Order: sequence, then structure tokens, then C-alpha cells
Amino acid sequence: MIKNLFNTAHIIILLLISSVALANEKAIIDPSARFHPVVSERGMVVSQEMIASQVGADILAAGGNAVDAAVATGFALAVTLPRAGNLGGGGFMLVHLAEENKTIALDYREMAPASASKDMFLDAEGDVDNSKARFSIQSSGVPGTVAGLLHALDSYGTMSLKQVLTPAINLARDGFPVSFDLSSSLQARQKTLHKNAASKAYFYKADGSDYQYGETLAQKDLAATLARIAENGRSGFYQGKTAELMVAEMQRSGGLINHKDLANYRVIEREPVCGDYRGNSVCAMPPPSSGGVHMVQMLNILEGWELSSLGHNSAAYIHRLVESMRRAYADRSSYLGDPDFFPVPVAKLTDKKYATSLREQINLEEVSRSSDIRPGLDGNTAGKESTETTHFSAWDQWGNVVSNTYTLNFSYGSGISVAGAGFLLNNEMDDFSSKPGSPNGYGLVGGVANAIEPGKRPLSSMTPTIVFDTTGAPMLATGSPGGSTIITIVMQMVLNVIDFEMNVAEATAASRIHHQWLPDMVFYESGVSADTLQLLREMGHQLKDKTSRLGATQSIQAGATGTMVYGAADYRRDGSGAAVPALKGKAVVEK
Ligand code: DON
Repeated sequence: MIKNLFNTAHIIILLLISSVALANEKAIIDPSARFHPVVSERGMVVSQEMIASQVGADILAAGGNAVDAAVATGFALAVTLPRAGNLGGGGFMLVHLAEENKTIALDYREMAPASASKDMFLDAEGDVDNSKARFSIQSSGVPGTVAGLLHALDSYGTMSLKQVLTPAINLARDGFPVSFDLSSSLQARQKTLHKNAASKAYFYKADGSDYQYGETLAQKDLAATLARIAENGRSGFYQGKTAELMVAEMQRSGGLINHKDLANYRVIEREPVCGDYRGNSVCAMPPPSSGGVHMVQMLNILEGWELSSLGHNSAAYIHRLVESMRRAYADRSSYLGDPDFFPVPVAKLTDKKYATSLREQINLEEVSRSSDIRPGLDGNTAGKESTETTHFSAWDQWGNVVSNTYTLNFSYGSGISVAGAGFLLNNEMDDFSSKPGSPNGYGLVGGVANAIEPGKRPLSSMTPTIVFDTTGAPMLATGSPGGSTIITIVMQMVLNVIDFEMNVAEATAASRIHHQWLPDMVFYESGVSADTLQLLREMGHQLKDKTSRLGATQSIQAGATGTMVYGAADYRRDGSGAAVPALKGKAVVEK
């Protein structure tokens, strides 16, 4: 009896303690919210594919830090999410180190091979041959993912390569249950993937038919490639058997990448682009991504208006977003490219005074036409010229944070696999501007700043982001796939959290809009009200005739007390999940 009473008292005390902790987290755990995040006190990994999230959470449970978990998740996604997770692509990683209070931007974007040239995708008439730029062996840049993940692990991780690679090797060798997403995306890409014998063999059954939900997909060649990386590190991929297989694939099909290109691939540590937004610091990827620059530029424009009182996704709010997006994307077409080849005016574009001048051009009652908007910086002669990626976030119990976006470009990249090596090649060369004014696969136009040159990195929109609160503590890690729409999607996550004080799950679920200057069109998701759309039309906005699905953010938010983290996978794509490390080694995955 006494023991029972003691137990009851004990439980009440525990409840009181936890309700005090929860009271401190008021803004985030609000019972009246429509969507709730996954909560953890021991860190978390959120990615587009549950098994890979669990791999990362297991690494956290085994004592790894956020970088160890992110690298393990990155390699696991190369197995379980082959349409975007990759060895044959590239990407960007933001790493925040709690102890040093330092944030690093890792650039492991693909590089154009040495024999690439400005007009390589033009046909005899001088027009862009889109099929060559997007689906040929020449559409591949030199892959950066393996070098990038290994650099992160070497520099900021704590575990051995074997520890972080073993889960991916096992998943590839033994196979894993096919999800609805994998089954349906392979079905959707069947025509392209069947054109390449290796892709057909790797991703379809022996008779060429599709894998169904719940069946097992094993990838023996990929397992062997991963094992060579575990054994020999970087040279297990950029040299030796895997390099031989890649170069043989190039030679067989007229590709440009040779041994020297592979050996010369380098990861670059860059300073993130950070902007002050209402006292918070929003840090994201610098060029060769356009993400950080233009997100900061748009936030600078928007900061001049009080947004929350307009109401989330009201016509007045969306009008301000669209007019800011239109101007930023006009600038993107002229001034952005690989900073090692073109002097990108980052400071000017992210300057608050420049944003003020752009804001002053915006009429709050009337729409502007993209045809009247030109890239806006003075004295830059360049101005006269003329979906598949995946994001994951990891946060550890010590407050280290990783925000990573990587890609093959299109879903399943170029569709061409390296025979014998088990992985797909990217088609990232299409992110260059093959001809001034000619739109790429995402409708984006560019000019000299983003022209093809040997060794250059194609301009990206990927926007892995970490937001720091007014005290300088990390408060949000987020990012998304979505090609040209990534920057505006990530910005809306930031606005939802800062201006509209949404928890990360609500911020994720909220309907999104997008505008990119050209085409002059507002893209919107279902859930933006018909009345709002009508008001926008009356203002003169041109709306797309049907709804879009915009992105798939995978985000983690810090609690007010600094011990809890809150995660939200994006339900826009099936199969995503937030995984929490369990106390005794076995992670708990929550969808
Ligand atoms: O780097 C970029 O901007 C593009 N290659 C990203 C492609 C992408 O997001 C496709 N995903 N839906």
C-alpha cells in the first residue's frame, strides 16, 4: 500500500516536472495545434525515407553525433531512395558545431568534366538538345556525394567509416521492403530506366516487371561499391575498381568523365550565406547554390512589412511573396553561378538597402509583369543577357545540427547506371545554362554566369538551411527538393515559423505557393482558398490552371529549453519519417 502510494506520488512528481518542461515549450506543444511534431530529448533524424531515418537514429543511439548520423543516413538513402539518394550525384551540407559555435557549408556539387564545353548541348541549328542535356551520358557531372559525405565524417564526425557505412551495405546486400513510393516512382520512370540495360537490371525484376509494395529489393553491385568505400575511403570510389567501372561506362557510351576528372574532384568548405531576419539569423548555402542568396534577399524585402497581421496565405500576403520572388529570380538569371568562375555579387544582392529599393518598386494593390522586371543591380553587364532531390536533417543531444540536400537532379538522374557498380549517374549538367535564355528542366533561364565551363559547378537552387534565434542558438534545420521551387518553399518554412509562430509540423503542412519570374505564373498548392485565388486574379496575377505539389521538407526545430527537439517529415511524399534514438540502442521511428 505504502509502496503504491509512493509510486503514485513519484508519478505525480514526474508528471509535474514534465508539465513544467512542456510549459516552457508553450509555443511548440500547443494542444490546439492541428498538427504535432515528433518530440525527442535525445536528438533526431528526419528524412524522406523511414529506413534511412532509422539508420541515422541508430547511429545517434550508439553515441554518434549529428554528422555521423547524417553521413549514415546519406549512404542509406543511396540504397533505399534511389531516385534521389545517391552515390552518383552531389549536394550541399550545412554543419553547425555546438561547442565551437561555428557553421560550415560543405559544397560537394558535381563538377563539369575537363572536356566539357559551353556549346556541348547545342544542335546543328544552335538550339539546345534537351534530351542530350538531360538523359545522355554527357548530362552527368563528376559525382561529389561520396567525397562530400566522407569529408564531413573525417572533419566533423566521431565514428569510423565502417560504422556509418555498415547499415547501407547491409540494406543493399540483403535487400529491404519496397515502399509505395519506390514502387510507384520506378513504375513512373520505367520507360527511361528500361532504355539502359544496367538500370533495368538493378531496379526491375529479371523479367523486366516492376517491384510491388512489400517485395524485397537487393542491390548486390551497390553493396560491393559501398564496401569498397568502407574499405578504402575516397579512393575506394574515385580510384580503383569503381573508377574503372565509371570510366568504362563513359567510354562505352560517349561520356566525358575520365580518371583525371574523378581524381580531381574536390569538396569545398564555404562560408554560409546568413541574413538577419527580424533578429534571427537565417543561414543557408552560398553559391554555387542560389538558395542562400535569394532566400536572404527575399526575406530582406519582406522584412519591411508586418506580415503576421495580414493573415497566413491571405491575398495580401501572397501578393507580397510573389512580388519579392519575381525580383529575386530575375536576379538569379543573371548574377548567379559558380563563384570560382564568375564574380557573384553576394554582398550586393543580400544588402538590406538593395532590398529596400526593390520593395519600393512593389505596388501593394497591383501586380507587376515579369516582362517589365529585369535583373536589378546597376552596372552589371551580365544583366543584358538575356524532380529529384532529397533533404534530411539531423540534430544530436549536444546541439550539433546537420542540414543536407543532395540530388541526382531528375528522378533517377540521367536514368543511366554504371554497369557493375550499381548506382545511377546524375544529369546535373542540365542545371547549367546551355544557351542564354533557354530554360532548363525547371524553366530556369541563365546566361554567362552559369554557362558551361570545364571544372565548373552548375548553379543550384538547393537550400539546406539552419536558422538561429535571437540568442544565436540553432532553432530550425530545414530544406527541400523541388528544383527551382526549393528556395521559395524553404523561405515559407522560415516565415511560417518566425512570422506565424507555427510549430514545425504545422509549418510543414501549410499550403505553399511559388513564383520564379519566368514563367510569369503563380503556382499554388491545394488548401489556398478559392476566395484568395480570386482576389489574386482580380489584382492581375496569372495563376496556374491547376494545383501543384511543392517540395518535401524534412525539418527539425529546437524547443525553447534547448533540450527537446521537434521534428516533422513532410507527408507530401510517401515514406518519409522522423526517427528518434531509443534509450537502449533500438531507434523508434515515428511517421
Ligand atoms: O540543384 C538543383 O537546383 C536541382 N538539380 C535540384 C533538382 C531537384 O530538386 C529535383 N527534385 N524534385
